[in-house]
Amino acid sequence: MTNSEKIKPSNFKIRYAKPNHIDAIFEIEKKCFPSLIRYSKQELAYLILQSNSICLIETLGEVVRAFLIVNFRAGSLIGRIVTIDVDPVFQNRGIGLRLLEKAESEMRQRGMHWSQLEVSETNKIAIALYTKAGYLFKEMIENYYKSKQHGTCNAIRMIKALSEN
Ligand SMILES: CC(C)(COP(=O)(O)OP(=O)(O)OC[C@H]1O[C@@H](n2cnc3c(N)ncnc32)[C@H](O)[C@@H]1OP(=O)(O)O)[C@@H](O)C(=O)NCCC(=O)NCCS
Repeated sequence: MTNSEKIKPSNFKIRYAKPNHIDAIFEIEKKCFPSLIRYSKQELAYLILQSNSICLIETLGEVVRAFLIVNFRAGSLIGRIVTIDVDPVFQNRGIGLRLLEKAESEMRQRGMHWSQLEVSETNKIAIALYTKAGYLFKEMIENYYKSKQHGTCNAIRMIKALSEN
């Protein structure tokens, strides 16, 4: 399989992450982001285990290929995508889009009307994914991402209305 060969819809396996997946999830986070801007294992564990979040993983056998975390806030009709990471070995095969669609389905089931996320204005691939999935520009947030080594970076906030189906 070449790196851009798409996976058949029937071969996607998406489920909820369990505590024993945290190590594998952190390994993917390390592959996707440099140390100073990525989530720590403790931060990921908190996000995955807290009751107002869900973490979805896509697996091939026992191998975790990707994950996505959604956060819900009391009294809000907006589901917030905290992060989505696909292991670089498995990128560009349709996993990211499929995880996003599944996350939106989970948000609808919880009565959310909107899905929202923030993305670095320099992350052209993620912006292309979100645009393809139907997300629209909402606002620019200046200096949203801050790190000692990389300085500051603006984020684009994107939003999608979740229809009934
Ligand atoms: C962004 C990311 C999640 C996309 O996941 P993915 O599984 O590779 O994406 P998919 O294969 O589902 O692609 C869906 C769409 O995204 C865009 N896309 C994906 N990879 C791309 C690439 N290399 N170049 C340009 N566009 C790309 C395309 O629009 C694609 O649709 P197409 O295949 O019809 O052209 C993945 O690249 C990743 O994990 N990046 C590192 C972590 C990250 O930046 N996360 C986002 C944080 S906000």
